[in-house]
Amino acid sequence: MTADSDDDIKALKAIGHICAETLREMMQAVRPGMTTRELDARGRSLLESAGARSAPQVAYNYPGTTCISVSPVIAHGIPGDHVLQEGELIHIDVSAERAGYFGDTGASLTVPAKTGDRSERALAEIDPLLAATRQALAKALGAARAGRRLNGIGRAVEDEAARSGFNVIADLTGHGIGRSLHEAPREIWNFHNRQDHRILNEGLVLAIEPFLTTGQGRIKQAADGWSLLTADSAIAAQFEHTIVVTQGDPLILTL
Ligand code: CO
Ligand code: CO
Repeated sequence: MTADSDDDIKALKAIGHICAETLREMMQAVRPGMTTRELDARGRSLLESAGARSAPQVAYNYPGTTCISVSPVIAHGIPGDHVLQEGELIHIDVSAERAGYFGDTGASLTVPAKTGDRSERALAEIDPLLAATRQALAKALGAARAGRRLNGIGRAVEDEAARSGFNVIADLTGHGIGRSLHEAPREIWNFHNRQDHRILNEGLVLAIEPFLTTGQGRIKQAADGWSLLTADSAIAAQFEHTIVVTQGDPLILTL
């Protein structure tokens, strides 16, 4: 959607804030020994108490409230019986609706150790990927400006991935959002698509979500019909914000 009134902005800020707070509290609640279903229940109660509904439930009859993906699953993981382990790489994606407006945010993190120590693997392998993906999102947000090409977003992500020695997952994209979870402009590629001539307009509401990986960047679907995992089982990371495009820096709704 294009937000063209103060009421639009107010409602988008409200649902963006709810998504951001829910994600933040869920990230803080992550503990080894907890199931992903228990973590999702925390998200559900936070959304309910804010008067919001799970967006994938509203839009796709999704069998959970939030998406909790355990590596090598990188998106649309269904919360369930999986018991979180120290040092495990997981991804939480919170998208929700209130009063007809939608927000979407996500983050990757490792399950903290009881001691608070970072494992060797986290320090050597996962942390650089998380840092690069965070940086890719920051650069992508900087490229989202009214009057510029939409493909500058993907170019920024691809450049940052190359600079840091990772690959993008080309099959997974950002998307327009606002009055529904996924709407025009669809497919905000995470690479520089030269055939994409779309121009960003002021007020456009976008979910920008770079995915970086240590592997080849191909995705396959699991037998559950939802979970998307890296085809080569390589680790991957995602960070996502919902924004409104302006003449200057974007308005980040899910900070
Ligand atoms: Co999302
Ligand atoms: Co999204």
